[in-house]
Amino acid sequence: MGKFIVNGGRELKGEISVSGSKNCALPILFSLIAVKSVTKLYNLPKIKDVELALKILVDFGAKIIYNIDSVIIDTTELEFMMPNTEYVSQIRASTYLLGACLCRFGYAYNQPFGGCNFSNRPIDYHLMAFSALGAEISGDKITLDKSPAGDIYLPNPSVGATVNSVIASLNTEMCVRIFGYAKEPHVVGLIDFLNGAGADISITDEALVISGGTQKNSSYKIIPDMIEAGTYSVLSLMFGGNIKVTGADAEHLGSFFHALTKSGASIQRLGNDITVSGKITRPLRITTGPYPSFPTDLQPQFVPLMAMFLGGQITETVFEDRFGYLSEFEKLGLYYQRSGSTANIFPSKLKNGTTDIPDLRAGAALVMSALRSEGESVLNNSFRVIRGYSDFVNKLRGLGADITEVN
Ligand code: EPZ
Repeated sequence: MGKFIVNGGRELKGEISVSGSKNCALPILFSLIAVKSVTKLYNLPKIKDVELALKILVDFGAKIIYNIDSVIIDTTELEFMMPNTEYVSQIRASTYLLGACLCRFGYAYNQPFGGCNFSNRPIDYHLMAFSALGAEISGDKITLDKSPAGDIYLPNPSVGATVNSVIASLNTEMCVRIFGYAKEPHVVGLIDFLNGAGADISITDEALVISGGTQKNSSYKIIPDMIEAGTYSVLSLMFGGNIKVTGADAEHLGSFFHALTKSGASIQRLGNDITVSGKITRPLRITTGPYPSFPTDLQPQFVPLMAMFLGGQITETVFEDRFGYLSEFEKLGLYYQRSGSTANIFPSKLKNGTTDIPDLRAGAALVMSALRSEGESVLNNSFRVIRGYSDFVNKLRGLGADITEVN
């Protein structure tokens, strides 16, 4: 399933651009099943997960036109079909098919959805939300053949359960309120898109309030990917601040920047461009959490940084177990100590070697470590990174990296 060959230890410098947000594009694409319209999307990231989502839309009957700078998606004539298990089992975002099909067709089927396998990925909050809207759940079949209405109380600000609740409520003839919702920029991006397509969704401090809207043709530019921007910002610091990250939205990365500046790094922001430089003078300490806390999807990328400088500590509060990747870093010389939801990373001379990429974000972190380490590294399962980072190999080559993906 592909591998990266990296010849590391070269000095990297130059500019690296941020593409459209994977975790904003995917909810928007699946929401189109619930929206009878012609939609023009700009800045759609060119990644496998988006290709897969578009294939699923076509299976439902969507018509797609690809332009140089945009994709036009016509979802005016759709028919229910059982989504291809081979597709849905590859991406977590396919869970959004539940909300979209409930809204459009009045029923949906629970299937073995995919997603990075670093932790248990239940959908109990999603199912609880559908029941709160009036849905009947019998085995794998979920039925909601009347107007959704009522209040949803999410136990945790789950991104996926928030997205699914919003999409399932789009055709309400009354009102739906979602308490305890996720506030990630990609959730707000979905809401902005849906309101532009005729929905009536308002955001208050305590709840999202969805009232009956209309459905109309619209166009939308996908927001920049904050996790990609954060990933390459760490790379900038790993390479002495000689890398400028362009096209980012720095407003999304407040807690990420705070963790870096607290330890001595400096952040230069010029419009949508970011450069992180300076010396780390104190151990890095991060605790992940729902937005606006430190993003869980940026914690693996801190490991090579901690190893390079004065070590540090990671406390993971979003997923029950997101440290499995540390054993892959151990193959590259990492010293660490793990206890429960906390991992202590000790200063380590990371070296080249062979690893097996376990998931998307840890894979990016392992590549970053290999780029910093003299000699050849082989990183198996490169598909796990290519699916979520747009033009990954070429962007790194643009900085002078010697990296190749071979099948
Ligand atoms: C989304 O996953 C992202 N994926 C993840 O990014 C990200 O790590 C996560 O949000 C947190 O920000 C996409 O957007 C496609 P959650 P999601 O529901 O929606 C528990 C990446 O690298 N939970 O916010 O699955 C869950 O187990 C990926 O791009 C339940 O218990 O995350 C976790 O502990 C990796 N029951 C916590 O809530 C549920 O029904 C947060 O999960 C749902 C979630």
